[in-house]
Amino acid sequence: MTQDLRLTIAAELERTRTRTALLTETVDDDDLTRQHSPLMSPLVWDLAHVGNQEELWLVRDVGGRDPVRHDIDELYDAFKHARRDRPALPLLKPAEARAYVGQVRDKVFDVLDRVRFDSSERLVDGGFAFGMILQHEQQHDETMLATHQLRTGAPVLHAPPPPPAVAIPAGEILIKGGTFTMGTDTEPWALDNERSAHRVDVPAFWIDAAPVTNGDYLAFMDAGGYDDERWWSERGWAHRQSAGLEAPLHWLRDQDGWQYRRFGRIEPIDPAEPVVHVCYFEAEAYAAWAGKRLPTEAEWEKAARWDPATGRSRRFPWGDDPPGPEHANLGQRHLAPAPVGAYPAGASPLGVHQLIGDVWEWVSSGFEPYPGFAAFPYREYSEVFFGGDYRMLRGGSFGTDTAAVRSTFRNWDHPIRRQIFSGFRCARDAS
Ligand SMILES: [Fe+2]
Repeated sequence: MTQDLRLTIAAELERTRTRTALLTETVDDDDLTRQHSPLMSPLVWDLAHVGNQEELWLVRDVGGRDPVRHDIDELYDAFKHARRDRPALPLLKPAEARAYVGQVRDKVFDVLDRVRFDSSERLVDGGFAFGMILQHEQQHDETMLATHQLRTGAPVLHAPPPPPAVAIPAGEILIKGGTFTMGTDTEPWALDNERSAHRVDVPAFWIDAAPVTNGDYLAFMDAGGYDDERWWSERGWAHRQSAGLEAPLHWLRDQDGWQYRRFGRIEPIDPAEPVVHVCYFEAEAYAAWAGKRLPTEAEWEKAARWDPATGRSRRFPWGDDPPGPEHANLGQRHLAPAPVGAYPAGASPLGVHQLIGDVWEWVSSGFEPYPGFAAFPYREYSEVFFGGDYRMLRGGSFGTDTAAVRSTFRNWDHPIRRQIFSGFRCARDAS
């Protein structure tokens, strides 16, 4: 059992590093050290930061080893330097950063060979610290993918297109009222904010069977949605005005209409694809225009986990099995959301499609702790963000790794952000 866990962790570490290497080796040193947007770190910062977190937790804390590079901890502390300030720091050069992460990783494999996954030590029980660090690297791989999307220049990333639609999801699905189990006590690598499992009573509601598509969103745009204050919240309208929003990020208008720029390629808009790169305020305005609203976090999770036949909450909409390529568009396997109806095998028992993968889905809830929350292993993971100006995002995107998402996973961001792979679906009251 312990040996299986060691092998699983080793394979996941290798798999994740392959993706990190791809994202940082397909561009030249100038691209690696440049800031592509004030919202993003230079890619070379992400790379060394991934290594530094791995060193802090696995080499020093779990392994009890001497520091590899004590002198750089401060540079790569995300709480000490805002993203916009990071390019001016005396960062490791690309070759140094690569050597550093390699050196750390060698030590981590040595620690992994010797560690006892002792159930009395919470940090290593079930391989938790390794799972946390793996997910951290995978999260930065998604951040780096968003940086690639913001980068200008010739395309450097290549992937096959996502699968075509093979099913037509229903318009909306009714989720009956009643309690369900939200959050988890059993997922070994779940982060502190996903715990504990608790019962939540959710009144009956309708939820869209699929994310809102580009075609749907174009109808909102064509109806003058961006210019009609009625659909926007007060804050949303103020932001729409000051930021000059008139379409999702990365959309370009020419004489024939709209196109988007994706990883350096200009492509026609596919009306069947979930809309991506919209902020919370845009999602909220669309929902109001459509006569609906965004789901709450509890509604989203009930739609994604509740099995009406057993009353049990599943790990994923399709069951407890980890995501396979037939279930969801995850892991940067494709570099775009898949059209609605491309993953019937990933639908929930009630027929809600594409909850996992494709696009992160904005929900209306802010970031609050679950009952009985206890910060672990450090306050800065979640606790310091509770109650802040955030909205939750659920389900992961095509850029999210399979091991960094599940139906309990909670992501959060500022409501104006749209450089992330964010979309949404709508809901409405059943009464
Ligand atoms: Fe980080």
